[in-house]
Parts: sequence; structure tokens; C-alpha cells
Amino acid sequence: MRRPLVVGNWKMHGSSAENRERVAAIAAGASECHGVDIAICPPAVYLQAVGAQLAGSGVALGAQNLCEQTRAGAFTGELLGAMLADVGCRYVIVGHSERRTLYGEDDSRVAEKFAAAAQFGLQPVLCIGETLAERDAGTTEAVLARQLDAVLRRTGVAAFGDAVIAYEPVWSIGTGRNAAPEQVQSAHAFIRGRLARLDATIANQIALLYGGSVKPNNAAALFDCADVDGGLIGGASLHAGDFLAIARAAATAS
Ligand code: 13P
Repeated sequence: MRRPLVVGNWKMHGSSAENRERVAAIAAGASECHGVDIAICPPAVYLQAVGAQLAGSGVALGAQNLCEQTRAGAFTGELLGAMLADVGCRYVIVGHSERRTLYGEDDSRVAEKFAAAAQFGLQPVLCIGETLAERDAGTTEAVLARQLDAVLRRTGVAAFGDAVIAYEPVWSIGTGRNAAPEQVQSAHAFIRGRLARLDATIANQIALLYGGSVKPNNAAALFDCADVDGGLIGGASLHAGDFLAIARAAATAS
């Protein structure tokens, strides 16, 4: 059995005061979630403060994005992977659909970011997923394959030995419309199978998270799927009680 992982993606939400309260509640409740790895990804400007508050709690810190460059330089507004590692990040989300659709990150840039994360010892949480139009056109697996293969071609499968993949169907993000467990299981099995063609051990060990409108009332059914190893949680991660309830559902599913 793979160890479950629940990651909170706060997106562009929070303030120093709000974060202090939320992090205190999450850190206090995390000790009741035995056997689950928990991480939170606040906006970058708050990474250091949140990291300091998390110290000793067992909850890991993650960033929401990084620069694909691997050396410091003249890249105004960007964040080098080394900097994220320096302030205590363990994870970094790569290729979130909001980055792909709103900020023009294509498959090749996502692949470069994944490679940069790995180079600096960060665990990339690679997000892949289809739009509603792609699902309706029956191309879900082709889209997942294209997004995954772009990274595999760049880094090789070995880099996935220290990575996480999040399946996030775009139509389920922030819509309250989560994918049905059968749809999620089918996509996850496809992703794992595609990795297994290259390396069965890595495919078997890698954590595959589901993301998209995960809430306390639907988490258990999603986490009970054989190939779902946890979740990437957006809106519900902004409420410590909901986020912890989701982490407890992952603990029970394990
Ligand atoms: P929601 O949980 O708000 O649907 O967001 C999912 C997501 O995009 C996490 O990265």
C-alpha cells in the first residue's frame, strides 16, 4: 500500500493574519492523521512565515510554481528552485491547469519546470488533466498521455521516482463538480499503466493524487479507488477543519 499524501493548494488566497490562524489549526490537527503525509502550498510570499510556523508539526511545505531556469539571473518576478528549497519547500506544484491556461505554460515549459524542480531536490507535483471539451470528444487518455510523455521525454522515467502526479480534470476544478470515482480510477489506472511500460517499480510506488472539488463529503469515495493515493485540494484547503477531515479520510482509506 502506498502512503497517502494530501496537499493543500491555497492558490492566490490568504494574508499573514489568516494564514497564522489556519496553519495553527492544521498543525494542531495533523497529529491525528496517522499514516498520511500532509503538505500545504501557500502563495510564495508567505512560504517562509508558514514554513516557520509548521516547524516540528510534520506538515510539509510546498510552492505553487517555480521558474524553469536552473541558475540565478535576470528573470524579474521568477523564483529559482534553489530558492524554494532554501526556504524549506519539499514539494512544488508543476503544470497546474491555471498556469497552463491563464499563463500560457505549454507542455515543454512544464517539462523544463519539472526537470528544474528535480535538479534542486524538490518533489514535483505534476498536474495533468483534460478539459471538458477534450473529455466530451473522447480524448482524455490522449491528453493525459501527451502531457505525461512531454515530461518523460525530457527527464526520463527515473525522475518520477521522486515525484508525485496529480490528475486534475480541468472541468472539476473549483466547479463543485468532482469527477466520479470510476472516472478518476480509470484515469489513474491509465497514468500508472503508462509509467509501468517504462518502469514497473516506479509506476507502482508513485503517489497519484486526484484534484478537483474534493470535499469532506466526497473524499472517502475518491480515496477508496485502488489507484488514488490522496488529493490535491484547492478550495477546501482554505478551511482547516475541512482540510483535516479530508486528510483523515485519506488515513482511513489507507
Ligand atoms: P478545488 O479543490 O478548489 O476544485 O481546486 C483543485 C485544484 O486545482 C487543486 O490544485
